[in-house]
Amino acid sequence: MNLIRFWGSKSNNIISNLIKEYSKDGDIILDPFGGRGVTVIEALKMRRRVIYNDLNPYAFFIAKNLSSPLNLSELEKAFNLLIEKISTTRYPIKNSKQKFVTLDQLYSTRCKCGAERKIRYTTWSLLYKRNSMEHKKYIQNKGRRLEEIAFRIYDILPSEEFSYHELRRSIEQDPSLRKVKPNVITRAINEVLIKNKLLKVVGEQPLEIIYTSRCKCGLIRKDVEREDFLKLKEISNASLPANYYYPIDELKYDNGKYFYKRRNISTLDQLFTKRNLIVLSILQNEIQSLHCSDEIKDALLFCLSSIIFASSKMQRPRAGAWSVGCYWVPPSFIERNVIELFKSRYRKLLKWKKIVKGLYENYFLLGNVEDVLKKSASVAFLKMDAQNLPIPNDCIDYIIVDPPQMDEIQYFELSFLAAKWLKLDIPFEKEIVVNPRQGKDKETYWNMLKAAFQEFTRVLKPRGRITVMLHGEEEEYFRKFREIFETLKLKTISTTFEKYRFKNNFHRNDRKRLNGDYYITLEKQPSNRLQQI
Ligand SMILES: C[S@@+](CC[C@H](N)C(=O)[O-])C[C@H]1O[C@@H](n2cnc3c(N)ncnc32)[C@H](O)[C@@H]1O
Ligand SMILES: [Zn+2]
Repeated sequence: MNLIRFWGSKSNNIISNLIKEYSKDGDIILDPFGGRGVTVIEALKMRRRVIYNDLNPYAFFIAKNLSSPLNLSELEKAFNLLIEKISTTRYPIKNSKQKFVTLDQLYSTRCKCGAERKIRYTTWSLLYKRNSMEHKKYIQNKGRRLEEIAFRIYDILPSEEFSYHELRRSIEQDPSLRKVKPNVITRAINEVLIKNKLLKVVGEQPLEIIYTSRCKCGLIRKDVEREDFLKLKEISNASLPANYYYPIDELKYDNGKYFYKRRNISTLDQLFTKRNLIVLSILQNEIQSLHCSDEIKDALLFCLSSIIFASSKMQRPRAGAWSVGCYWVPPSFIERNVIELFKSRYRKLLKWKKIVKGLYENYFLLGNVEDVLKKSASVAFLKMDAQNLPIPNDCIDYIIVDPPQMDEIQYFELSFLAAKWLKLDIPFEKEIVVNPRQGKDKETYWNMLKAAFQEFTRVLKPRGRITVMLHGEEEEYFRKFREIFETLKLKTISTTFEKYRFKNNFHRNDRKRLNGDYYITLEKQPSNRLQQI
C-alpha cells in the first residue's frame, strides 16, 4: 500500500499484530492520532469496530479516502472522462499574446532524430552567483568543519555565475572535496555561503530531458536544447486564466511567523516550476468540475494530493518521497510530468480499491461515534483535538496511540502544502508538538499530551487496554510518559521493542537513536478515579 506517504507512518503489520493481541471480534478500537489510517484498515479487516481521529485535516482526508470502499465502475468512468477532457482541451495559457495549448504539448520535445517525444522528467540545477570576498575572513576564522568545506568550495567556484551541476564537476576534481557527501556540500552552501551572502541563488537551469519511452533512434534522453529552453522560458512567463486555483500561501502560521522547518522559499507556489504549477492547477480545476459523486471526486483529489510532492521542486534525482522534513528547493531537482504521475497513481489507487473491496466492502458501514457504539456502524471518522474527544466515558475496548514526537516531525506544517491544494485550513494552534515559532516549548507539549492521555483514559472501559508507541528518544522522554501513566493509574502489562522494517529517513543521520519503537501496553484500573493533572 505505498499509495501515499505520511510522515512517521506505522506499518500495517505492527498494527494488525496489536489488534490481534489486545482485542477481539466486534470490539471498539480508537486511534486518536490516526495519521493515514492504518488502524482503520487493519481493524475493519479483522471485523473490529473503529473510531479514527486526527485533528490534521490532511491526515483525515487521506485516512478516509484510503480506507473507504468505492464504486469502481463509477471511479473508472470519472477518471476516463477526466483524461479525455484534459487530453483534448486547448487551454488558454496566456502569454503576451493569447495562446491555446494542450497539456501534452507542454510536456513534449523533439528528439535529436527529429521525432516528437513525450517528456517523463526534466532535470534542473539551481544557478548561483558569487558575491565579493568580504566575508571570507570571517569564515576562515571560525574553523569549523562545515565552514572549512564551505571555504574550500568558495575557492573552487567554476566562475562568477554557475549552476550546481557545474559546481559538482569542480567538486569531483578536488581531492579534498571529492569524498564529502552531497548533503554536507548542500549544507555548506546553504548554511555558510548563502547565509553569509558569499553566494546567492539567481535562478534555475534545465539540463536534461528524459523521455517516457525510448525513441525509435534508440535515445531515451537528451540535453536541453535551445528550442526546449525557449519553450520553457515562454511557459515561465505565462499565466493561467483567473478562475484557475493554485495555492500561493506564505509559509507562515496565523501568528505571522515563518514555518519552523523551511529553508530557501517563502510561498507555496515557489515550490513548483511554472509548467507543473499550470498543469496541477488545471487538473485540480477539472476534477472539481466533474459531474460525479463527492466520494469519487475526493478519490481523484486524493490521487492529486498524493503526487504533489513528486511534482514539486523538492523532488531530488534518485530520491524517493519527502524524506527531508522541511520546505526547500534542493540544488538539483527533477521536474516530473504531472499527467504521467497522475495516471500511474490512479492505477495504483484502482488496484488498492479492488483489494479494499475484497477485504471489507460489506462490513464497512460509515456512521458517527454513537452509531459505532450502538453497532449500527463499523467506522467513524473524527477530526478533533485529542485533548477533547466527543466520546462518552468508559466505552472503548482498546486504544492505539502513536503520539506526535516533540519537534522531530512537524505534521501540520508538512501537511500544509497538500492541504492548501485541497483548499483545507490547518488549525496549527491545537497541534501537539514542540515548535518555538508557534510558541510551544517542551512544557506546553507535555501539558497537551497529559490532557490527551487523560481523555484517552476517560473513554476507555475499565480493564480496557491502551498501547502507546514511543520512539527511542532520551531518558527524559520515557520518564515523562511513565509519570503520565502513573498519574492516570494505568498499569503496564507489557513492553516490547520493535525494530523498523524499513530505514526511517527522519532518523537516518542520527546514530544516537534506536532503530525502532517501544510499545507499551497498559490497562485502565476499574477503580480509576481520575486525578487532576
Ligand atoms: C505519529 S503521527 C501518527 C501516525 C499514524 N500512526 C500513521 O501510521 O499514519 C501523530 C499524529 O498526531 C496528529 N496530531 C497532532 N496534534 C493533534 C491533536 N491535538 N489532536 C489530534 N491529532 C493530533 C498529527 O496530525 C499526526 O497525524
Ligand atoms: Zn530519436
